[in-house]
Amino acid sequence: MSNPFAPDLLWQLADEFGTPLWVYDATTIRNRIAQLQAFDTVRFAQKACSNIHILQLMRQQGVKVDAVSRGEILRAIAAGFQPGFGEPAEIVFTADVMDEATLATVVQHQVPVNAGSIDMLHQLGQASPGHVVWLRINPGFGHGHSNKTNTGGEHSKHGIWHTDLTLALTVIAERGLRLAGLHMHIGSGVDYGHLQEVCGAMVQLVERTKAAGHDLQAISAGGGLSIPYREGDATIDTSHYFGLWDAARKQAEAILGHHLGLELEPGRFLVAESGVLLGTVRATKNAGSNHFVLVDTGFNELMRPSMYGSYHGMHIQRRGVGVLPNTGSGARDAVVAGPLCESGDVFTQGDGGVVLPRSLGDAQVGDLLVIHDTGAYGASMSSNYNTRPLAAEVLVDGGNARLIRRRQTVDELLALELGL
Ligand code: LLP
Repeated sequence: MSNPFAPDLLWQLADEFGTPLWVYDATTIRNRIAQLQAFDTVRFAQKACSNIHILQLMRQQGVKVDAVSRGEILRAIAAGFQPGFGEPAEIVFTADVMDEATLATVVQHQVPVNAGSIDMLHQLGQASPGHVVWLRINPGFGHGHSNKTNTGGEHSKHGIWHTDLTLALTVIAERGLRLAGLHMHIGSGVDYGHLQEVCGAMVQLVERTKAAGHDLQAISAGGGLSIPYREGDATIDTSHYFGLWDAARKQAEAILGHHLGLELEPGRFLVAESGVLLGTVRATKNAGSNHFVLVDTGFNELMRPSMYGSYHGMHIQRRGVGVLPNTGSGARDAVVAGPLCESGDVFTQGDGGVVLPRSLGDAQVGDLLVIHDTGAYGASMSSNYNTRPLAAEVLVDGGNARLIRRRQTVDELLALELGL
């Protein structure tokens, strides 16, 4: 629903850098960070938008970072985050499974591990006694904007099942690991009716941890804060959100008898509304009752509509005219689709690949398509499908716009296979 950029600026950027193009607004990101300042630690789930320059911006604002792969750990280090067992640690590695190379990296850089399986604890304990760990617990229930983003309950592969907490604590003691905190992330795009339930589950876990003779320095509320993709969608009341977690923290402090740090691990909330994806209209056509607007960007860039049936606001702008109205005369229903050789390459669709024409201005070849709220899970989920190079990324900060990732070339892609 949001678009932080003036139409003229988007034309300038499209002309200078070409399309498809990701554009981010630094001010929006700083504002979102400020909304969460009541939490002791805001830890950016970088999978949402892992560009090194975005990570640097986060770091300048005092935000810490979560990494879910060896690559994300190395990105965080490249952005200037200092690995190590600080309290709070600047980088935490969260996963349910760890390959050998990742294990070697967390040991080499002393990156605390937020373990989602007991096997990880064994592997880490063997390789690095004394390593700092968190336990990611699956409380037995979860919520998400789609089944694919629900990370709690028995159908989710994530986290250590809540009844295995005691076993995990025993393994920590036997392996000589050091427990820093408990973590829960029950889904992305969470429905806040359930927040009380999540906080209550955390307090119970703290109680059981204490009863098993262990101590903690912090708890993490995970991520999951949603953003208003559609007009009329609720906006998160961050002080209410903090209030519920702060009350849980206080209960946990009473159990443990000392101060406890409170972490939050948002991805989407910090970056989604900062970004747009620009594409150029390259063809229009009719097929029976459907009118198609075909653009030069597809699900190789923005996968969310095809993968989850996600809604993204969008508008069309015409050079010298401005933004075309999407209601009233001149507006028409169109299916907005990309260049990929696949029928599901449609931005205006619902769950299960149902094509949903959307009212847009009457787009013509040469117009600019602006897809809103693409700062989270946009560029970071892109692929090279159909041998399409990764698009460029630009960060706008006040009056200054700079390229933060150049466009990949086809030659770079081919080079991975040629000359072996
Ligand atoms: N922490 C953990 C352990 C996570 O697995 C995730 C997201 C987050 C934090 C951040 O969640 P957020 O605050 O962004 O909701 N690709 C999907 C979202 C998948 C989220 C995966 N994990 C999408 O485009 O909606």
